[in-house]
Amino acid sequence: MHPNKNGGKPAAKLQVTTPTSSYPIYIGSGLLQRIGAYLGETPAISRIEEVLLVSNETVYPLYGGPVEQALEQSGRRVHTFVMPDGEQHKSWDMAERILSYALKRRLSRKTLVIALGGGVVGDLAGFAAAVYLRGVPLVQIPTTLLAQVDSSIGGKVAVNHPLGKNMIGAFHRPELVLADAAVLSTLPRRELIAGLAEVIKYGIIWDEHLFSFLEANAEAVLACDPECLEAAIRRSCEIKAEIVAKDERDQGLRAILNFGHTVGHALENVTGYTAYRHGEAVAVGMAAACRLGTLIGCMSQEEAERVIRLLERYGLPVKLPAEARPHIPAAMMHDKKAVGDQLWFVIPNRIGEVGLANFGRDYDWSLLEEALDSIVD
Ligand code: NAD
Ligand code: GLY
Repeated sequence: MHPNKNGGKPAAKLQVTTPTSSYPIYIGSGLLQRIGAYLGETPAISRIEEVLLVSNETVYPLYGGPVEQALEQSGRRVHTFVMPDGEQHKSWDMAERILSYALKRRLSRKTLVIALGGGVVGDLAGFAAAVYLRGVPLVQIPTTLLAQVDSSIGGKVAVNHPLGKNMIGAFHRPELVLADAAVLSTLPRRELIAGLAEVIKYGIIWDEHLFSFLEANAEAVLACDPECLEAAIRRSCEIKAEIVAKDERDQGLRAILNFGHTVGHALENVTGYTAYRHGEAVAVGMAAACRLGTLIGCMSQEEAERVIRLLERYGLPVKLPAEARPHIPAAMMHDKKAVGDQLWFVIPNRIGEVGLANFGRDYDWSLLEEALDSIVD
């Protein structure tokens, strides 16, 4: 636990430790207002006085003021770049605008980039930090559940290219992550539920206790009970931190974080990235992966049903629209885990453990088709 000098409940502190780096994640409520103190306690950036704050037109009016004020009160100069809201702005063009903004103000290498927003702001600001003057330090203040439990941790930063999502990017780890659960009170309900899909994912891939906790406390989590929600965030961050610590550069184990994403990404793609929030599409993908698990004999029918029941209880979709179904296999072949005519697929063995299966070599494609058919609406 991190001592809270201003009173209130102390924040939990986790450390992401890889072979080459270590950075803290603080999880609690009311952390934004204390950002000056958290920066002061992070040796690599404690003395930096110039800050480039990147946020968007939705988040900045809600939380930009208190963050700027806290930074200024701690003796830092703040330059603020506010971008439009939306995935379509996670682009090369927007990254260039941030870089131009910084260059015109002659911001030096001793500038700290702070990303205040969801995964879009985090990925874009992180990408700008990775390339500005060959790299300046980054702090992530994730404001969506998805960003708190996933995108702010692990150092993947990127912009989209017209030919694919996240195709231009880098590994640029943050010096500090501040996950303030209080900001989730303004998050649209649909975004919260989409983020919960990733929390459920951690239970399936790594930790049956988390899964059981989500079953036992579904109502409280959905009602944003602070204790339950923070516990779910904390455990999710611990799991992501553990996986990233073992495989920061995505050479093996980290692939399991893509559980549900092969069909999920394909569904997002064939529906034009507008019909589904990412977490919703991943929920459909997790249902498909569980069906596939039962078909190849890795996962029991009961466990697969248990997963699907939990997804439904959290209001997440588990069915594939009939009109999307025919286009999914081709879209899956654009997945980063597709190699030639083979596809690596993350399959559950049981709740709490997954493995990788190769379709096109070890398993027949017809099984994938059968699993997809079994979840058509
Ligand atoms: P998002 O950033 O688009 O945020 C969703 C919506 O919520 C936006 O309209 C945003 O303005 C709004 N919002 C954010 N915080 C709010 C708050 N506290 N109150 C009210 N509104 C708020 O979407 P997301 O789901 O956070 O992130 C998706 C992005 O994350 C995608 O681009 C995806 O590729 C990326 N991602 C990256 C990684 C990684 O490892 N780097 C992992 C997963 C996802
Ligand atoms: N969200 C996938 C990863 O961080 O590797």
